[in-house]
Amino acid sequence: MNILIAYISMTGRNKKIAEHLADYLEEHNADVTLEQMIDTDAFDLDSYDAVIIETYTYNDGEVPDEAKDFYDDLEDVDLKRTKFAVLGSSSKEHLHFGRAVDYFTMRLNSSNGEQVSDSVKIDQDPNEDDFKRVDQLGNYVLKSLNKD
Ligand SMILES: Cc1cc2nc3c(=O)[nH]c(=O)nc-3n(C[C@H](O)[C@H](O)[C@H](O)COP(=O)(O)O)c2cc1C
Repeated sequence: MNILIAYISMTGRNKKIAEHLADYLEEHNADVTLEQMIDTDAFDLDSYDAVIIETYTYNDGEVPDEAKDFYDDLEDVDLKRTKFAVLGSSSKEHLHFGRAVDYFTMRLNSSNGEQVSDSVKIDQDPNEDDFKRVDQLGNYVLKSLNKD
C-alpha cells in the first residue's frame, strides 16, 4: 500500500508531525511518500492508495498562499478512488483555529474522496497526546487499506 503525505510548514511544526507520521506508517509496513505540498500535483493523487494532507492555517483562518494552487486544483480532481485524512498544527491564539484543516477536509469530500479518519487539529507544538492522536489517524488510514 502506498500512502502520500503532502504537507506545508512555515516554522517546522507540521514538518515534524509529518515526519513522525511517515515513520509510524512505515513501521506498519506502508510505502510512504513524504513531500511538500508545493511539489504535489493534485492530478496525481489517484495514483496513491491513500492521501494525507497536512496544513497550518494563516491570515484569519485561511488556507496558506503556498497551498492555494494545490487547493484550487483539488476542485477539478475526481477522488472517488482515494482515501484521505487531514491534519495540521495551527494556533488557538487565533480566531478560526485550524480553519485550513476544515477547508481541505471539505474540499476533498466534495471531490468525492473517502474520508477515513476525523481530521486532527493540533495547537502549536505537538505534545504526547497530540502524537497519539496523529498515530490514531494513521491507524484509521491503515485500517481502511487493509479492508480492501
Ligand atoms: C501571521 C499568522 C497568522 C496566523 N493565522 C492563524 C489562523 O488564522 N488560525 C490558526 O489556527 N492559526 C493561525 N496561525 C498559527 C499557525 O498556523 C501555527 O503557528 C502553526 O503551528 C504553524 O505551523 P508550522 O510550524 O508548520 O509552520 C497564524 C500564524 C501567523 C504567523
